[in-house]
Amino acid sequence: MDAVHKGADLGGVKRRVHIKTYGCQMNVYDTERMLDILRPLGFEPQAAADGADLVILNTCHIREKAAEKVYSDLGRIKAHHDAKAADGGQMIVAVAGCVAQAEGEEITRRQPMVDMVFGPQTYHRLPEMLAAAGQERGGPVLDTDFPVEDKFDHLPEERVAGGVSSFLTIQEGCDKFCTFCVVPYTRGAEQSRPVDAIVAEARRLVASGAREITLLGQNVNAYHGEDAAGREVGLGGLSRRLAEIDGLARIRYTTSHPRDMDDDLIAAHRDVPALMPYLHLPVQSGSDRILAAMNRKHTADEYRRLVDRLREARPDLALTSDFIVGFPGESDLDFADTLKLVSDIDYAGAFSFKYSARPGTPAASAPEHVPEAVKDERLAGLQQLLNAQQEAFNRRTIGTTVPVLFEKPGRQPGQLAGRSPYLQPVHVTAPGIAVGDIVECRIDRLQAHSLFATPVVSEDGGALPNETEAVA
Ligand code: SAH
Ligand code: SF4
Ligand code: F3S
Repeated sequence: MDAVHKGADLGGVKRRVHIKTYGCQMNVYDTERMLDILRPLGFEPQAAADGADLVILNTCHIREKAAEKVYSDLGRIKAHHDAKAADGGQMIVAVAGCVAQAEGEEITRRQPMVDMVFGPQTYHRLPEMLAAAGQERGGPVLDTDFPVEDKFDHLPEERVAGGVSSFLTIQEGCDKFCTFCVVPYTRGAEQSRPVDAIVAEARRLVASGAREITLLGQNVNAYHGEDAAGREVGLGGLSRRLAEIDGLARIRYTTSHPRDMDDDLIAAHRDVPALMPYLHLPVQSGSDRILAAMNRKHTADEYRRLVDRLREARPDLALTSDFIVGFPGESDLDFADTLKLVSDIDYAGAFSFKYSARPGTPAASAPEHVPEAVKDERLAGLQQLLNAQQEAFNRRTIGTTVPVLFEKPGRQPGQLAGRSPYLQPVHVTAPGIAVGDIVECRIDRLQAHSLFATPVVSEDGGALPNETEAVA
């Protein structure tokens, strides 16, 4: 709190900040929190970099393309920066997030315009960093510590909710060290926030309009926070606690590791109605040889059995995954095992990526890199299968009635866009429904990846609210 109050003395005048967010939902959350810190300093967010007093790129280092994008964006921002300087103004440019953590000073070497470089664990020090950057001290401000203090203890309580559906980070960092992945290096060791702090933040989000909260962590189901009595609580237990909050209708979490899917969390999928029947459970590959080389610490069959247990607990569970094709040493047979696993599981959707060698990770120095053309071919084959499964999943919901949480206006006038329990986008054009409502809707048709639906109308002609979810 200290930092925030000190920073508040800096301002008085209105200033404009532009933050561009790359990468995962945890960066989206961090961006919201940076804005929570910056608002009391007089900063108003704006959608474009042009003319801003402060530009922050909240970056992602997961694949080469993501990291390189930051440098090309910095090139574009330089034009705005120089134009502002020519007018006698100042634009402070900051690189935050995982590229900042991974590359540190290298960023200012490649782009000397950059004033501040700070990692995901130090953005609570933004007020001090801004003060230092404003003082023309003859060098960029660099802060890529993994500090002993917990940033969450230094963030303001005030939160501007991300809307009807909000993110809440409950766990950070990762101790899994998959051999392809930068996250353990950019986000540091695994750490869980205390239960009470999370419940309090969830209550504040609900009070400011959230009806759905997605709990975030690089390894969210490794969550093991302490409650007020000093007892360790897992993600299953935390979901039960959060489900008691009046007005919180839906709970989701992402991203999970198959190894941390414990019995209690599986039981929560059976017992907690607010826990949505949707699970992103990345498997990466269907080949045991590749899974071992990736250090995923489970086999394809162990994953299949885990999915069986999850579906026993919650038969309608929609499952999604991430895949990497062309991991070093991946043969045609290994790839065929991935296709086989996908066929066996039958996913509701998935993300798939070509392996990208990341500096400093063990797999990057492996001898047998897969040629780019082979990666392309495998990616296309995998995506074809996954797209067909996603479409089949969406088609199966046509004709069913599901509760839809409306999140925002749709593209057409009078239309609202929402989500089914299975996270499918659903569009409805009907009077009498507002953002934040949960309404029973019959799914009529599928177009591209969106479903179109009609509210189920009650006898008095009004849209029928959903009984189990409309708890507010
Ligand atoms: N914590 C999550 C993953 C976070 S990264 C988990 O354990 O599953 C999101 C996804 O990016 C990963 O699931 C993986 O599929 C992909 N990814 C990570 N590193 C990658 C790399 N070096 N090349 C290609 N894809 C990668
Ligand atoms: Fe990366 Fe693996 Fe940790 Fe996920 S579990 S963040 S893929 S190291
Ligand atoms: Fe990217 Fe960092 Fe998230 S590397 S995926 S922004 S944890």
